[in-house]
Amino acid sequence: MRVVKVSTNTPYDIMIERGLIDSVGALIKSVTGVCKVTVITDTNVEKLYAERVISSLKNEGFDTSLFTFEAGEKSKTLSTVAEMYSHMADFHMSRKDIAVALGGGVTGDMAGFAAATYMRGIDFVQIPTSLLAQVDSSVGGKTGADIPQGKNLVGAFHQPRLVIIDPDTLGTLPEHFVNDGMAEVIKYGCIKDEELFKTLENENALDIIEDIIERCVSIKRDVVDRDEKEKGERMLLNFGHTLGHALEKIYNFEGLSHGQAVAIGMVMITKASERAGLTPTGTAVRIKALCEKYNLPTSDKADIGRIASECASDKKSAAGSVSFVLLSEIGSSFTRKTPLSDVLSFIQE
Ligand SMILES: NC(=O)c1ccc[n+]([C@@H]2O[C@H](COP(=O)([O-])OP(=O)(O)OC[C@H]3O[C@@H](n4cnc5c(N)ncnc54)[C@H](O)[C@@H]3O)[C@@H](O)[C@H]2O)c1
Ligand SMILES: [Zn+2]
Repeated sequence: MRVVKVSTNTPYDIMIERGLIDSVGALIKSVTGVCKVTVITDTNVEKLYAERVISSLKNEGFDTSLFTFEAGEKSKTLSTVAEMYSHMADFHMSRKDIAVALGGGVTGDMAGFAAATYMRGIDFVQIPTSLLAQVDSSVGGKTGADIPQGKNLVGAFHQPRLVIIDPDTLGTLPEHFVNDGMAEVIKYGCIKDEELFKTLENENALDIIEDIIERCVSIKRDVVDRDEKEKGERMLLNFGHTLGHALEKIYNFEGLSHGQAVAIGMVMITKASERAGLTPTGTAVRIKALCEKYNLPTSDKADIGRIASECASDKKSAAGSVSFVLLSEIGSSFTRKTPLSDVLSFIQE
């Protein structure tokens, strides 16, 4: 088994192995006593994996209950979180009991937030089943929900007690979501790991997915260890995301998926950075080719002025400027503040 150790304020392990979903009970038992466990999942993942997880927990003596919500980002609301609280209270969960998030990033973010706040905080375990959740959202301790004014505007930092990754679950993930997760994988190669980038160029990532997941979570772990609360280095993880978020907003979070928007964002910002002489020529072409290899779009027809103004209203933009993540080369990144008045000319071809 591959184990990646995270040493944030509350340390935890990320365990990666095919078939691990059937050992969830024993793994959780090794970090807690026997207690009550609420498994939180969505309607798609419930059908595929809930029974296996629950029987593994029961075999180890856990008293379990299951909470299922309608799959999809539309469910990522405070009212779904409130239903989780009620479910856990009805199940008489105490502060020593735990919540298990079984599913993609929507499940992990919401279950994590419910765990962060139920009785002022209980332990939770992540069992990410989408590629995006396995390489990104299950690590780092960001939890939360959407409100009508914006995505992820409410949340808490709450580190999981354990992350259990079974790459076999990707076998049932619709291809579109696999591609979406690949955008984040490519991002890690761009910002921190040229070897990973080359591996993605030369091989089919899905054939060596355990290696890829381990590399990605190790990179995220390193960044988060050094910057748990997102004051500096963690911003590098936003490569491609400032323009990506702008595009997602322009299409009302419906036209483009997150991964597609990030892929376009990575190529666009790198082209801009090349024009400004900050990134070696030819870098954007390589990123574009890699995104295309994994069926991700790399350009968009949205109005550039609109994109620039959406960037300026990004919640991560500090007053007066936008911090773009740029590459000094593939595998190495830095942030650069661009005054709001210069954003359009910077990104415009
Ligand atoms: N906390 C963080 O640091 C962080 C980072 C990035 C993204 N996010 C959040 O993650 C969310 C997106 O995550 P996502 O793409 O996993 O979305 P998701 O949880 O909605 O999962 C995508 C779809 O795949 C289905 N699914 C998941 N695993 C499956 C499997 N093994 N087999 C079949 N179907 C499966 C789900 O039911 C859903 O329909 C967003 O809400 C985003 O804000 C959080
Ligand atoms: Zn992302």
